[in-house]
Amino acid sequence: MGSTVANEASVFDHVEYVPPDAIFELTLAFNADKDPRKVNLGQGTYKDEHGNPWILPAVRAAKASDAVRNANHEYLPILGLPAFRTLVTELVYGRDAAVITEGRVAVSQSLSGTGALHLAGSVLYQTFRERGPSPTAPLPPVYITNPTWSNHRQVFETIGFTVNDFRWASPTTGSLDLPAILEDLGKAPPHSIVVLHASGHNPSACDPTEAEWRHIASVIQQRQLLPLFDSAYLGIASGSYDADAFAIRHVANELQLETVVCVSFAKNMGLYGERVGHVSVTTKTVSAAQALQSRLAQQTRAEISNPPAFGARIVAAVLADEKLRAQWEVDLVTMSGRIAAMRTALYEGLAKRGTPGDWKPIIQQKGMFSVLGLPRLTVVELREKHHIYMADSSRISIAGLNEGNVDYVAAALNSVLR
Ligand SMILES: Cc1ncc(COP(=O)(O)O)c(C=O)c1O
Repeated sequence: MGSTVANEASVFDHVEYVPPDAIFELTLAFNADKDPRKVNLGQGTYKDEHGNPWILPAVRAAKASDAVRNANHEYLPILGLPAFRTLVTELVYGRDAAVITEGRVAVSQSLSGTGALHLAGSVLYQTFRERGPSPTAPLPPVYITNPTWSNHRQVFETIGFTVNDFRWASPTTGSLDLPAILEDLGKAPPHSIVVLHASGHNPSACDPTEAEWRHIASVIQQRQLLPLFDSAYLGIASGSYDADAFAIRHVANELQLETVVCVSFAKNMGLYGERVGHVSVTTKTVSAAQALQSRLAQQTRAEISNPPAFGARIVAAVLADEKLRAQWEVDLVTMSGRIAAMRTALYEGLAKRGTPGDWKPIIQQKGMFSVLGLPRLTVVELREKHHIYMADSSRISIAGLNEGNVDYVAAALNSVLR
């Protein structure tokens, strides 16, 4: 009987196969590799000095707190844990920000950073389609940086947006290309959504200085673009949450532009699997904030009904308690400091060997990543001969380096580049 099924036409015959996500595949290949020298520089997850996942001391303490241990297992409200929503909004904009005191910010919990982008994007898409920001203009496109995180295009195209890119870092020097950014954004149609990395740009590791952010923000203001900050590395780039939130606060608080902020607690609290994130949209009026928040709730109800509780309780426990919050600030310095030390160690390992190439950007850049600028064949050679795993673009996660493997990596790079 079973064989007849194969002979019948399937309603799925037209479905095209899509290859699996490259970075998750790389992790699977790394896990399967039996060589003791193997090094994983693929996925952007923080590892401690022994190459192990790190549970932040602030998070460990929060997990042991009564608020987390004694919590029940009921549903959260649709918009998420109220304490989490309030505390994170204050964390992002600063406690006294006018958008908060005047009630001009719509807020929802989300499924980590990716879920935040998808939730915000879906609500923007629907509301712009209903009666666009300009009734006569076509649906505005989304602009993403070139290069950018491998998931950005897919997230916004899946929602239905047209996605364009604008130049961010120079492919030749690997440094921020401010004139190109200003030129490209200067041509974007009004109301385009511009996806910016708040700090620790992935993959280029090129963050604008405060003066450069002011330039970028003023073009956004002049062109009436809608800034959307993807904020997955706040506190990780510099070790200070406030310093890393500069661009968000400049745009939303100082310039008072309507702004979308998508936050993840995966990297800066090490809560990768808990999927805890936060979306906020600042608006010009209280009624717009209320309307948008109702749409965030409607979209969440339709997609996931209500968000998961555990990670949100941990984040709220850390932020609500002075001691835990102070510990978290130390933890951010620990992570960003170890990453900076590994940048120096890798640079020195290459410099002392006279490895061909300009490796200075490695110590000038910030955040978790660096792009080495290697051809794909060299990336494959490093994987097959030396068991060093990195993205095909030769982006490496610096957090995968430690005292025990950094010289091995420098020696391997030196040998494949000779
Ligand atoms: C730039 C950027 N945005 C968003 C994310 C989302 O991460 P998550 O959904 O795990 O919070 C990542 C993760 O790698 C990222 O690099």
